[in-house]
Order: sequence, then structure tokens, then C-alpha cells
Amino acid sequence: MRIYELNDYLAVSRKAAAVIAAQIIAKPNSILGLATGSTPIGAYQQLVQWYQNGDLDFSQISSVNLDEYKGLPRDNDQSYYYFMNDHLFRHVNIASEHTHIPNGMEPDTAKECSGYDALIESLGGVDLQLLGLGHNGHIGFNEPADHFAKSTHCVDLQERTIEANKRFFESADEVPRQAYTMGCGTIMKAKKILIVVSGKDKAKIVDKAFFGSITPQVPASLLQLHQDVTLVGDKEALSLLDH
Ligand code: F6R
Repeated sequence: MRIYELNDYLAVSRKAAAVIAAQIIAKPNSILGLATGSTPIGAYQQLVQWYQNGDLDFSQISSVNLDEYKGLPRDNDQSYYYFMNDHLFRHVNIASEHTHIPNGMEPDTAKECSGYDALIESLGGVDLQLLGLGHNGHIGFNEPADHFAKSTHCVDLQERTIEANKRFFESADEVPRQAYTMGCGTIMKAKKILIVVSGKDKAKIVDKAFFGSITPQVPASLLQLHQDVTLVGDKEALSLLDH
């Protein structure tokens, strides 16, 4: 694992964007695996700026996102489709038909999940998968469990997650109860992985996930077995790594 320790969130965002930009420049038709959440926002802003300066070209890039709420239409401002459009897609020259996000409005779970995995495979697999890290070690919507989920699947959101997310909705009743997510196995198939972490509140889980035991109770710990992982974090998030 390569670890980059940066001073602050801005520097983390610039470094993460540089890793993604290097991928785009080296392979202009890369398949990028993308994430939502607050941590990657700065990296997306930096990529947009480099695109606007004429330094990056997304015209041949394809993307596949990690996850999406089930039951939320794309135009709902809490959908991950909306997020990606808002933070990246509408600002760069990526073709909308090259951007892929699980379809939250597909009621047939088996169809959506097998279809998403088949799609990733048909694209030739993910070249670089960007990830954030949940406080309990989740990646995508893969929450602590007694096994690692292999492929794209539908998860029941934990009560804690619904509670945490309800601030974004008018009421807790409106928070989706389920989500589609790539499995840990899907994520592990990516050729390269880039994880971004920031803030003191991530310090414990960063240490546990990358230097603790490999267990489905900490889904991100599986990444220890991946051959090409880059961890980009600020001093606070990496503060417990004395290794
Ligand atoms: C996002 C995702 C989540 C987040 C994680 C960390 O698509 O799947 O696993 O990466 O919850 O979120 P932030 O970056 O908000 O701390």
C-alpha cells in the first residue's frame, strides 16, 4: 500500500485528484470507479478546475459509481446520480452515456445487480476505483457483516444509517430503506484502488482497517489483500499510524 500523508483536506484533495488525473492522462479511455460522500468532493472540484484549464480531457472516460439508494429517482437531490452530476459530470466533457450508476428506480433487484456486474465486466473492469471510508469501516454500502459480499447487491440500511441520513430529508420516513452497492468482491476486482480519508474522526478506523485484522466486521480491511492500493489522507486521519 502506498500512503500519502498531507497537511490538510485541500492537499488531500489535490493529491487524490492528481492520482486520478495521472490515470486519465496515461489511459484516456479509463474506466473510473467513483464514490460519493463528503471526502471526494474536493478532489472532484480540483479535477473540474484542471478540466476548465484545458489540462484534462474526459471525452473517452467511462465511469461506474459504487452505489445508489433504492427507490430514489435521479432528480431527487439526495440521489447519488444527482450528487455526481452536481459535483463532476455536468462540469466536464464526460459523455452522459458513459456514466453509470446503479438504477435506484429498478424494482427488480436480481436484474439490477447482475446487470451492473455484467456492465462492469463488459467495459473491461474498473481501472481505478475511488473510495471513501465509513467510520465503521464500510466501503460503498458494504456494512460490517459476517461475510464479505462478493458482487453487486441490495442492502437493507441499518437503523443507524437511516438515523444519520435523515437530516438530508424532510423526515426519517423519506430516507430510503435500501440501497444498491458494488460488493467487496466487485471492488477488489478494480485494477487500482485510491482511498481518501480526512479528519481526526477517521483516525481509529484508518488504523483498524489497514493495519488490523482482515475481517468482514471491517469491510475495508479486505483491501489489505489488494495489490495496488493508494491511501491519501491528512495528518489527522493518519495520526494513529505509527507503522
Ligand atoms: C459513497 C460511499 C460511502 C462513503 C463513506 C464515507 O459512495 O459509498 O461508503 O465513501 O460513507 O463517506 P464520507 O466521505 O462522507 O466520510
